[in-house]
Amino acid sequence: MTNTKESINHIIRSRRSIFPPSYIEKEIPREIIDTILENANFAPTHKLTEPWRFTVFTGGGLEKLGDYMAEAYRANTTPETFSQAKYDGTRAKSLKSAAVIAIVVELHEEKIPEWEEVAATACAVQNMWLTATANGIGAYWSSPSVTESLRAFLGLKENQKCVGFFYMGYHNLGEIPARRTPIEDKVTWVN
Ligand SMILES: Cc1cc2nc3c(=O)[nH]c(=O)nc-3n(C[C@H](O)[C@H](O)[C@H](O)COP(=O)(O)O)c2cc1C
Repeated sequence: MTNTKESINHIIRSRRSIFPPSYIEKEIPREIIDTILENANFAPTHKLTEPWRFTVFTGGGLEKLGDYMAEAYRANTTPETFSQAKYDGTRAKSLKSAAVIAIVVELHEEKIPEWEEVAATACAVQNMWLTATANGIGAYWSSPSVTESLRAFLGLKENQKCVGFFYMGYHNLGEIPARRTPIEDKVTWVN
């Protein structure tokens, strides 16, 4: 990849959701995680509220997250519908990851609407995702299945909301083609 235009097209188009079962056992160096977070911080942000907040789980933190998510699944399931395989799978998702980043939005209701803060945070996540892709790291954004109890687990303030988890790990899948319908179907031109 020689020029910037080609590189950016390639990174954007080859970014995929890569899930924990495909992750291999390999640590992500701290400096790469730092770069991923640093690039998140360059997302556009209306009125410079910079609403993205992150909690990074690595090492023993992944066990704590896995235990929490598995127990949250148990707490939100009746004994009749509880599945041990689902419980174990929920826990394994964290343990298979090299790092997981909780994605949190800090709202500033008096300044701008919530959707703009969520949009800015999604831009930050895309920056992280593209940086991960450029470094050969697979990742995916998981929407939270539990919400209110996450508040205590992540120590969120009243004006903060968790909007998901960003799971990351190296993988050996190579490039996977995207499934998308043509852009022409989604654009109206006014000339
Ligand atoms: C805000 C957001 C939330 C998502 N939540 C989930 C999720 O909870 N579970 C999941 O399997 N994928 C989730 N995804 C990933 C999408 O399924 C994925 O982006 C889509 O299938 C397209 O695949 P690609 O990312 O490889 O292009 C989420 C994506 C976004 C943008």
